[in-house]
Amino acid sequence: MLFIKVPKERAEEVRRSIIADGVYAVDYKAFHDDKYVYFPVLKSPIETGYELVEMEGEKFVRAKKLRELLSDVLTKEELENLITSYDVVGDIAIVDVPEELQKKEMKIADAILKTNKHIKVVAKKLGKVESEFRIRPLKVIAGENRTETTHMEHGCRMRLDIGKVYFSIRLSHERKRIAEQVRPFENILVLFAGVGPFPLVIAKKQSNTKIIAIELNPEAVKYMKENININRTKNIVVEEGDARKVVLDKYKGFADRIVMPLPRSADKFLDVAFSGARDDCTVHIYGFAPIENPYADIEKRIIDEAKKAGAKVEILNKKIVRPYAPKVVQVVIDFRIRKVVK
Ligand SMILES: C[S@@+](CC[C@H](N)C(=O)[O-])C[C@H]1O[C@@H](n2cnc3c(N)ncnc32)[C@H](O)[C@@H]1O
Repeated sequence: MLFIKVPKERAEEVRRSIIADGVYAVDYKAFHDDKYVYFPVLKSPIETGYELVEMEGEKFVRAKKLRELLSDVLTKEELENLITSYDVVGDIAIVDVPEELQKKEMKIADAILKTNKHIKVVAKKLGKVESEFRIRPLKVIAGENRTETTHMEHGCRMRLDIGKVYFSIRLSHERKRIAEQVRPFENILVLFAGVGPFPLVIAKKQSNTKIIAIELNPEAVKYMKENININRTKNIVVEEGDARKVVLDKYKGFADRIVMPLPRSADKFLDVAFSGARDDCTVHIYGFAPIENPYADIEKRIIDEAKKAGAKVEILNKKIVRPYAPKVVQVVIDFRIRKVVK
């Protein structure tokens, strides 16, 4: 299989262009490493200037069938955009139906249900992820009329209601990446824990840790407690409330590691991270940023807050996690806090 090797920061732009050129091999999965995204292509795209590499490809079963079922309903480009943009959480398919395809949405939903027997519900996105709880407005358009499901990730079972809590499958590789870094006996703060995916995946990988999972949305807290029971995890303590208040009241100087998965405003909690950190604490902060210069603002915020806290920081890693919106990407920066200047 041929793959086009694209630097992560150009991935979304190139993805759109190879779809428009009709060369995206939509039956195959794209994948990525630290720096590059590899898109499967049918033949060499015209003038992208990027390297082509030959590797074994992994096939999407659903893509082939969906293509057959919708070939006379959608144009080739509409179909390819649909295939690369819908997510499956548990047994629910979440579809982004563009304005111009609204009239065909029932046919699209029926085709998705027929494509994958495991999918029991099709919900369409009604708008952006909004509000303090970061919930996406959705409407069920086909299948069973529910938004609650069970999702499996890295061997953890998670109950959740996509109509009442935030959950994204697109952070799955981040959960694994961070869990793999955790060492035994670490104290860990997960500041915006949702239904618990970061704490659960970390706890499964490293049971000899103490994880404090803080979440504001009572519905997410309810599911997180249920998920801890389902997964028989013993080392996660759930704290319902505002991360700032909980850390400042109870966990100053506690953490060897802090996870901050609230990209819209995690930087406003950097002072909280410096308070919650022990010496040598590693922090993973997520943010949204312009694709042209994705790290500068967040790095500056980290350095400013370090100065205020009288600490030193060392940037360990920075990378683009995923495209988020046109010209906007989600990034993660990992840094170490040195409280005692050595
Ligand atoms: C982007 S979601 C991430 C959820 C989860 N970590 C995940 O990866 O699925 C951010 C979460 O932070 C919660 N949140 C927002 N503000 C908060 C605050 N001040 N304190 C604690 N949690 C907060 C939201 O309710 C939401 O569940």
